[in-house]
Amino acid sequence: MIEEIQALKKERRATILAHNYQIPAVQDIADLAGDSLELSRAAAALDSEVIVFCGVDFMAETAAILSPQKRVVLPVKGAWCPMAHMITPQQLDELKALYPQAAVVCYVNSTAEIKAKSDICCTSANGVQVVESLSEDEVIFVPDRNLAAYVARHTKKKIIPWDGYCYVHDQFTPEMVKAARKLHPQAEVLVHPECRPEVIDLADFVYSTAGMCKHPDINRAREYIIGTEVGMIYRLKKAHPDREFYPLSDEAICQNMKKTTLPDVLRALQTLEPRVVVPEEIAVRARGAIERMLRVKV
Ligand code: 13P
Ligand code: SF4
Repeated sequence: MIEEIQALKKERRATILAHNYQIPAVQDIADLAGDSLELSRAAAALDSEVIVFCGVDFMAETAAILSPQKRVVLPVKGAWCPMAHMITPQQLDELKALYPQAAVVCYVNSTAEIKAKSDICCTSANGVQVVESLSEDEVIFVPDRNLAAYVARHTKKKIIPWDGYCYVHDQFTPEMVKAARKLHPQAEVLVHPECRPEVIDLADFVYSTAGMCKHPDINRAREYIIGTEVGMIYRLKKAHPDREFYPLSDEAICQNMKKTTLPDVLRALQTLEPRVVVPEEIAVRARGAIERMLRVKV
């Protein structure tokens, strides 16, 4: 099947992008496995005609918004991010009416319509830099309350959060961190900024998923406790085979990220379906918010 996928990929002039939480077999056949920022940058820069996006809905939508002339395919139609759907366009309008002077930053884990109503997007890798790049002193930050709280720690600007969250990261507790440290006393703790503030308080470092792979102090410790989705363990072991990585919880599984399998990727290449298309009147405004983010230096 891998050979079939590779041959068809060439024939279709396709690129396979995979998020770091994808199952190992899918990460391995991808041209690039990365975090949301790396994958958005790749989608904007690629010259292939087809992008097979192994991830969840908002990631493929972002690629389609950035490259409307390319055919973006999400191999499993029902692979979605629940957090991205925790704020509706009407709710955002109401929040904007309450704070008319505030800029609007939306986490890239949001729908195209929310992006279209925002001034700028951010990812977990650049939230602080995006907020700091704005001239406004007040910032509405949607939909993730935990990423909003993390950004608020690193800026003097007033952050107005929405009450969304990721069920995978929000389940981590300080007790879990303490228990994991007891089990692995030599290990350092890396967590994702979608974790709750009280979990972040106990971590050694806070990173996006790509940030974890590129941790500059990887030689500081031989063992690491990883506070994010379990797919990162495979990704990190591949990047650093001489280090040990333990999940903060074995139950931190994003069901939607696990939906895509090799037969789905093969079918996607054969049929070029299901295609992700964002209506141009929404895409044109959402593109502005994403491209503005891509211009912010990290
Ligand atoms: P990253 O951009 O850090 O990979 O995060 C995406 C995501 O969905 C985290 O849950
Ligand atoms: Fe969404 Fe959480 Fe899954 Fe990331 S891990 S895609 S934020 S549900």
